[in-house]
Amino acid sequence: MKRFPTLTVSNHPLIQHKLSYIRDKRTSKKVFKELVDEVGTLLAYEITKNLPVRAVRVETPLETTTCNVIDSENVVLVPLLRAGLGMVDGVRNLIPNCAICHLGLYRDHETHEPVTYYFKPMQRPENRMFIMVDPMLATGGSAIASADMLKQSGAKDIKFMCLVAAPEGVEAFQHAHPDIEIFAAALDDRLNDDAYILPGLGDAGDRLFGTT
Ligand code: PRP
Ligand code: URA
Repeated sequence: MKRFPTLTVSNHPLIQHKLSYIRDKRTSKKVFKELVDEVGTLLAYEITKNLPVRAVRVETPLETTTCNVIDSENVVLVPLLRAGLGMVDGVRNLIPNCAICHLGLYRDHETHEPVTYYFKPMQRPENRMFIMVDPMLATGGSAIASADMLKQSGAKDIKFMCLVAAPEGVEAFQHAHPDIEIFAAALDDRLNDDAYILPGLGDAGDRLFGTT
């Protein structure tokens, strides 16, 4: 029996390679963002593998044939501000016509509890796939609160994509939302006393936006 049945950790060598440089504290801001984009694209490829397709007729230069397309406007990317913004471009490289539904919250430094400041729900959420993106799943508080809000707004098909997950966060998230699959590039060891992920990659938002 898997300890975390809702978690998929990608062991693809390209993802593991890029994540190693993302973790490295010597990596520049420019390269950090480029690598986050690239890993975001690779994870999005995995997460969308069961997207529904629709048959269309296509005329090739030689004959007419039946091909499959996705309805990309039915894919809704939900970046958890602020650090989740850093993963938007990577997914958009693959699905340029996806919708983007911003959700703003930050973790209180003392309590580590999420504080919500912005949410623009998607109209007609039925039949759409929502992909929450945030580089870090630490205590799980931010992701749980975000999924709560998405569900309250009517979203049914939700997935969560992150770079690094802590066991504590995965445990809490799968307890609160057993129906939501988590896709991560790594499952790390544990949280430290400040609820930072070890070994982790530091503060994702600060590294993306230069606010250290
Ligand atoms: C970070 C991260 C997640 C959250 C994870 O955001 O991007 O949203 O912490 O921690 P949790 O699982 O314990 O909730 P932060 O609060 O630092 O805000 P920021 O994205 O604005 O930097
Ligand atoms: N948020 C981050 O950016 N990093 C962590 O390790 C935990 C929460």
